[in-house]
Amino acid sequence: MTLAIMSALLDEQRGLLERLDKPQRVKRAGRTFWCGQWAGQDVVLVLTKVGKVAAATTTTVLMEVFDVKSVLFTGVAGGVGCGVQVGDVVVADAFIQHDLNSAPLFPRYEIPLYGRATFDCDPRLSALLLEAAQRGLAGVGDHCHRDLPLASPQVHRGLIASGDQFVCDPVAAALMRADLQAAGHEPLAVEMEGAAVAQVCHDYGVPFAAMRTISDRADAQAHLDFSAFVTQVASPYALAVVSQFIQLRSGK
Ligand code: ADE
Repeated sequence: MTLAIMSALLDEQRGLLERLDKPQRVKRAGRTFWCGQWAGQDVVLVLTKVGKVAAATTTTVLMEVFDVKSVLFTGVAGGVGCGVQVGDVVVADAFIQHDLNSAPLFPRYEIPLYGRATFDCDPRLSALLLEAAQRGLAGVGDHCHRDLPLASPQVHRGLIASGDQFVCDPVAAALMRADLQAAGHEPLAVEMEGAAVAQVCHDYGVPFAAMRTISDRADAQAHLDFSAFVTQVASPYALAVVSQFIQLRSGK
């Protein structure tokens, strides 16, 4: 019943890696897969790298080489939904590609030959992740970002939009949101990998759940202190939530 835990960046993964018992390194397709145990459960940790193509490759290797029975993604995202603040967490219930447009051949956002624009996360795994986020973040203590204390993190649940761009322009972010809304989609956050992972998990019939800590509001400040945020806030959040998730998954 191996659980794969994917992250986009090394700083997001480091804390998780330190918790892995008996880690063994396996290299494939230029990626390092860390196989080991966490609280007695078989786990494989891997970095997706950045962007949808890299994430799809990593997920495909996971499916073909490792006997993965469920996939969990932890990382950071830009908040685009109302009330989704820096330091909050979004647990995805579905993913869409905000930069996919095959119109007029297919409706905007629809993935050609799949007949759909979104991929749902697994409801059972996502419910477990939501509970893990609520429990885990209740105990994380105070964190600061740019010397400002972060309010106690809110946990949101909803749609996440992925695309091959770091969104750091409020006009572009508003336009993206308006276009998605016009097609009936209301994203809470934007990032660069989740929809690709969700699509490959769908193709292989493997349950998938994802959480993203909001590092920015997809505006002109989005890149400032990005790696400090990942190290000081997102990484401890991910560790707290994944620890709870693994405990809940084992029924303890
Ligand atoms: N990941 C974190 N913040 C992001 C942003 N603003 N755009 C895309 N991916 C992100």
